[in-house]
Order: sequence, then structure tokens, then C-alpha cells
Amino acid sequence: MFTILVPICFFQIKTDLFMNTLVMGASGETGRLLVDQLVNAGQKVKIIVRSPDKLPENWIRNNMITVVHAGIAKIKINEMAELIRDCQAVACCLGHNLTIKGIFGPPRKLVTNAVQLTCKAILQNAPEKPVKFVLMNTAGNRNRDLNESESTGEKIVSLLLRLILPPHLDNEKAADYLRVKVGKNNPVIEWTAVRPDNLINEKEVSGYSLHISPTRSPIFNPGETSRINVGHFMANLITNQNIWNKWKGNMPVIYNT
Ligand SMILES: NC(=O)c1ccc[n+]([C@@H]2O[C@H](COP(=O)([O-])OP(=O)(O)OC[C@H]3O[C@@H](n4cnc5c(N)ncnc54)[C@H](OP(=O)(O)O)[C@@H]3O)[C@@H](O)[C@H]2O)c1
Repeated sequence: MFTILVPICFFQIKTDLFMNTLVMGASGETGRLLVDQLVNAGQKVKIIVRSPDKLPENWIRNNMITVVHAGIAKIKINEMAELIRDCQAVACCLGHNLTIKGIFGPPRKLVTNAVQLTCKAILQNAPEKPVKFVLMNTAGNRNRDLNESESTGEKIVSLLLRLILPPHLDNEKAADYLRVKVGKNNPVIEWTAVRPDNLINEKEVSGYSLHISPTRSPIFNPGETSRINVGHFMANLITNQNIWNKWKGNMPVIYNT
């Protein structure tokens, strides 16, 4: 199994590209950590948020951050095409709020629709160089391009989650859109779907390992991934071409070590 350990000497974001990145879900717990790490690495960021009042004060005054006040579900394709025209990368950390309304209410396909809208807007713009798309996904989703095994118990639980929990199906469909509709040979969009396991909060970036497929059962023996490490890896994917080349078209699983 293909595994990479990210040791302590690589904690700094390895920047060899200067990008303007559109971040969706920037007000969320992981999204904030991604934006901070991109900006600290000297990158420009454009964020779409529905409640700018929730943002850290220092973001509002930071000229590396452009805040767009809008509900992602209400943006039309032409508007998104305009918003994304000056961006070379897109990151999506959207997720359903963990409330009854967030889990079971509309928009049930929050993440899938946002991925689809953004990809269609990129296609419409037809940029000269491919735009990078980094999706925050979950270790609970299998990469169906690979023969990732599933025990009978895992199959049953996955089926139940799909039926009972709309956000799980949304995560699966969002990654499927990139994997199947966008594909690996798209001339204008390249993508990676990052799969953390159980998310935890840590203050500092720590060691983490990257795997082409899960190395443990996300259902019966889940690992831990800190949100700040997810943000760190997503920022590195965006700003470092070697790291991007290694993982594009894949769904890397990330665990704390
Ligand atoms: N929990 C886990 O252990 C786990 C494990 C692996 C993967 N994941 C996945 O990781 C992703 C992000 O996790 P997180 O904890 O960082 O998420 P989070 O803190 O809940 O952030 C979610 C983001 O999505 C936005 N959002 C939610 N509903 C929206 C709507 N209807 N319209 C527009 N924006 C909306 C939120 O905006 P507001 O701030 O305006 O609400 C926020 O920016 C999720 O997709 C989750 O499924 C979770």
C-alpha cells in the first residue's frame, strides 16, 4: 500500500506557486485553518461565506483575503464563473451543520451541488491552465476507481448511513462527481479528494501520514485526523506542484501519526 509519512521538518507550507484560491466552507472549523495556512504562506484567498460576521476580525482587514457574502446554494453559474475567473485553485471544506436542520434539511446535496457548480463555472471559463480542485471528503467514502475492500459489516453500515444520513450520501456524490464526471484527463480541471478519518481539533500541525486507501476500518476501527493537519495538506496540495502531481486524480487518506 502506498504510504507517505509527513515528518516534522515539513510542517512549513512548501510553496513553489503563488495562487489565488477560492475557498468554500471557509467559516467552518477546517476551512478557517486552511485559509490561515494559505495566507500565512503568502497566498491570496477568496472566500464565499453566508455569515461574514462570524469571521475573525483580522481576516476582514487582511488584503490577501477577499470576502464574498453569499449563500453557495443561491449562486448562479454565471456568477460563479465571474467569481472564479481569477482563481487558479478551489478548495471545498463545506459540510452539513450538525443540527437536525443541517443534517436533514435542504440543501441535501450542499457539497455535491457546490462541486458541480464550481466545475461547470470552470468549464465555462475555459482557462488556459487547469484549475486545481481540492475537496475535503471523508475516509468513510470508498474510492471506486480502486478496488478498496469492504467487509460485509462495513457494507451494511455504509448502506444504512447512505439511507439514514443525507450528508454521507452527499460526500459520496461530491467525490463521485470529480472522479466520474470530471475524470482524470480533463483539460481544465485537476482534482484531489482528501479523506480524513475522525476529525479532532489540535492547535498545532503535527505528523501525519498519507495513504492511497484507508489502512483501517473507518467504521469499526477509525483513526484520528486533526483539522489543522487537513488544512496543512490541502494548502500544500495547492501551493506545491510536486505534492500536487503525486496526488492529483486520487483520494488520499490522511491520519495523524
Ligand atoms: N466530523 C468528522 O469526523 C468528519 C470526518 C471526515 C470528514 N468530515 C467532513 O469534513 C467536512 C468539513 O468538516 P468541518 O468539521 O470542518 O465542518 P464545519 O465546521 O461544520 O463547517 C462546515 C462549513 O460548511 C458551511 N455550510 C454548512 N451548511 C451550509 C449551507 N446550507 N450553505 C452554505 N454553507 C454551509 C458552514 O458555513 P456556516 O459557518 O455559515 O454554517 C461551514 O463553513 C464535512 O464535509 C464533513 O462531512 C467530517
